Amino acid sequence: MNDLICQQCQNTYPLSAPVWRCECGGLLDIRFKARFDRERISAREPTLWRYREALPISSDACITTFGEGYTPLIPVTVAGRSILVKQDQLFPTGSYKDRGAAMLISKAAEIGITHVVEDSSGNAGCAIAAYCARAGISCDIYVPEDTSDAKLAQIRHYGAELHRIPGPREATARAALEAAETTYYASHSWNPFFFHGTKTFAFEVCEQLGWQAPDSVVVPVGNGTLLLGCAIGFGELRAAGVIEAVPKLIGVQSSGCAPLAAAHSAGSSQAQPIQTTPTLAEGIAIAEPARGADILTAIRDSGGHFVCVEEDEIADALRSMGRQGLYVEPTAAATIAGVQTYCASAPVEEKIVTVCTGTGLKSTEKMLKLLKGAP
Ligand SMILES: Cc1ncc(COP(=O)(O)O)c(C=O)c1O
Ligand SMILES: [Zn+2]
Repeated sequence: MNDLICQQCQNTYPLSAPVWRCECGGLLDIRFKARFDRERISAREPTLWRYREALPISSDACITTFGEGYTPLIPVTVAGRSILVKQDQLFPTGSYKDRGAAMLISKAAEIGITHVVEDSSGNAGCAIAAYCARAGISCDIYVPEDTSDAKLAQIRHYGAELHRIPGPREATARAALEAAETTYYASHSWNPFFFHGTKTFAFEVCEQLGWQAPDSVVVPVGNGTLLLGCAIGFGELRAAGVIEAVPKLIGVQSSGCAPLAAAHSAGSSQAQPIQTTPTLAEGIAIAEPARGADILTAIRDSGGHFVCVEEDEIADALRSMGRQGLYVEPTAAATIAGVQTYCASAPVEEKIVTVCTGTGLKSTEKMLKLLKGAP
């Protein structure tokens, strides 16, 4: 039962098919039985590839890697509590998107893809461009015009063809979708292999806690690549009998762009059309998430919910991270602000895990602006 299946018409494709969505236009999911041999895993290198039997890649020769993953899980003080925080800003391109890119581009190499397109607020573009460079695959990356210079430089540095699209983030997504009519779409929202990379976050957390699940996991939600990765990853660990239950998944959105938090509150199973306002957390400013319904289901099934964070809370969380020696980008600080809010209602005995998703080194202009306005 290793295949791709359409959410809409249940049509199936082999995992080797060069498709990123169904012929009917539906979203594809991967059906795959993950296995965990803890002894073999612990004897391997500390990278995300140590979960080899849980990753839907056939050929070791096609694995495209910089030795990424198995990031530290360290205690950080948030809201006066000790919270375990995955250091995913330490990935080779500076964000957790490398989890998804490593898997997706390894798969693309395995099935003979030579050219891909991707759209991004910046970090996913950097990740796809880097792994494509390593795999010898050419790529076109579409980004919003106001993407930071550091991310633009990084994408170009890897040899990708860069397209800067005026207008809102949705205009960039539309431009990439159009290009994807004729090219393999290495999309972090559409392509299901990306999520089978981000799921390694769950495997690492579980192993780092002595093969136990935490009580709750707080993650950012724009397109929900990490949130859905957690749902898949913890779901596979439960199905394999490694853990008893999927932790509560808490999704963090910026109040300036919170279509899924609004839908959750309204009891709706689809993202709500919303008015957006500019936010420091550009990485999660996604008004029309392709997998919105999946994200809502994952949060609900886990017994979790959303928290929305305000701009001043993001700035405060960013400062607090700095005072503890962590240089993260504002989108990553939004998650920490979300933990702060969540802690107000979370029982004290709850074991909470969260994540720093991206490095501050790519957001110098924003960081300088915030420092100017700092008390
Ligand atoms: C640093 C950072 N954190 C979080 C996210 C949110 O990821 P997603 O849109 O997959 O939910 C992004 C997305 O670009 C990001 O760059
Ligand atoms: Zn279909």
